[in-house]
Amino acid sequence: MPLLNSISKVIQAFSKLLHVEIACFNPKGELIAATEEYILRKGTKVHVPFFNNLYGHHITFLHEPGKMQSCVGCHFINHCPSKAELVQDMIINGKKYGYLSFVSFSPENEVKLIENKQYYIEWLSRLKEIIISILRDTDVFKAADNRYFALENYIFGKSKALTDIRKLIKGIRNSTSSILITGETGTGKSLLAQYIHEMSLVSKGPFVELNCAAIPESLFESEIFGYEEGAFTNAKKSGKKGYFELADHGTLFMDEIADLPLNLQPKLLKVLQDGMIMRVGGTSSKKVDVRLISATNQPFNELLDEKRFRSDLYYRLNVIPITIPPLRERMEDLALLALHFIKKLKERTGKLIDSCSEEYMGVLSAYHWPGNLRELENVIEYSMNIESNNVLTTDSLPPYLANSAVSRPILAGKSTSPKPGLAEAERDVIIQKLQAYENSYTGKQKAAKDLGISIRTLYRKMEKLEIHI
Ligand SMILES: Nc1ncnc2c1ncn2[C@@H]1O[C@H](COP(=O)(O)OP(=O)(O)OP(=O)(O)O)[C@@H](O)[C@H]1O
Ligand SMILES: [Mg+2]
Repeated sequence: MPLLNSISKVIQAFSKLLHVEIACFNPKGELIAATEEYILRKGTKVHVPFFNNLYGHHITFLHEPGKMQSCVGCHFINHCPSKAELVQDMIINGKKYGYLSFVSFSPENEVKLIENKQYYIEWLSRLKEIIISILRDTDVFKAADNRYFALENYIFGKSKALTDIRKLIKGIRNSTSSILITGETGTGKSLLAQYIHEMSLVSKGPFVELNCAAIPESLFESEIFGYEEGAFTNAKKSGKKGYFELADHGTLFMDEIADLPLNLQPKLLKVLQDGMIMRVGGTSSKKVDVRLISATNQPFNELLDEKRFRSDLYYRLNVIPITIPPLRERMEDLALLALHFIKKLKERTGKLIDSCSEEYMGVLSAYHWPGNLRELENVIEYSMNIESNNVLTTDSLPPYLANSAVSRPILAGKSTSPKPGLAEAERDVIIQKLQAYENSYTGKQKAAKDLGISIRTLYRKMEKLEIHI
């Protein structure tokens, strides 16, 4: 299979470069690819319960393979050929892609792995990204039986707005009506969509995520509805399932729905009305049973006024509206969220840090968080990486935050509509990110990635906020 071949080649190259043995498994614990030495010593089967325990831990360092509690039941118990292993779960955006492991079989390599743990962790993460980028476009991995999501990953906090959202979700758990989640970038729309799915009647079915801004317009229809054999040049021989078919009996999450091309909007409306889809190049329709959740960070009023979005579709999507307020309007949740991110990032950074100083929290509280929870998480990740104490202190704050917290107090007022200050804050963040990279398309792609938005959304924001870089 060409796909596995490419993964195998990458693994061999990394192994040569880093002098470690490498193995990569799918979510069921089946070996996808490994170095020869690994297969020779450990074979192709893993002790699945052992690996299952590792999900959600990001990186686990095993210094006594074969002698750990979770090795009970493994045929290598007490005589595991591995001397040390560094294992990482491959999860991105809540989707499970499997596990990746760096292994040492000799005492010399064991020492190397232990002494240069941080170095190997970095390479492990890079390899993970490469492997996921190879896997993510395949149908198998688009389907959600690979998804990892624990309800406790979503922190509601104690603000009234979020408590109300929690109540609403509980109340609609038996419903399959469409939901539209709105909120600024980074407020947690994607995570909430997963939470809603997990709480719903269709939680046993797939959760399939589609980012409307990331699909080229020309491919949209075939991606959403699939295509039949020979539908166009370069079409796969066997045809291909679209996102609706992949999400059958589950949830389809259409992120950045405002980017749905106008010419496809009537087609989506039709599916929502009669539940029938027709593949591109197909001659008959097929019934699908899909719960739709969509999300956007763009104000729909403008889109409707400018006729960039059909109002009939909007009403269909917006049967149950949920608006997540920006973080600066729910600051009573800040401490809880900060502690949650510290805990989450503890494993990833390998630091023994469980909390932060009062001054540190003071700076976080005085800031206006234009990038919302994503920005908070990034700030904490930065601090966790460079902090030398056992709690986070103001010394490890990113400079931009320390400075802007002093010069720009939190925006006055509670929950009101977007104000000029907000646009200004967003403008500042975008400029900062753009300046961090070279002034080119690639630079902008990197900035967009950091901001957690698509390149198209970045260009649109630059135009709207009059950023000319
Ligand atoms: N309530 C929450 N509890 C814990 N983590 C959260 C919560 N909300 C958001 N996060 C984290 O914050 C980050 C941003 O969340 P998410 O991607 O869901 O935001 P978004 O609103 O979809 O952003 P965008 O508009 O850019 O797509 C993620 O890393 C997510 O895990
Ligand atoms: Mg999102």
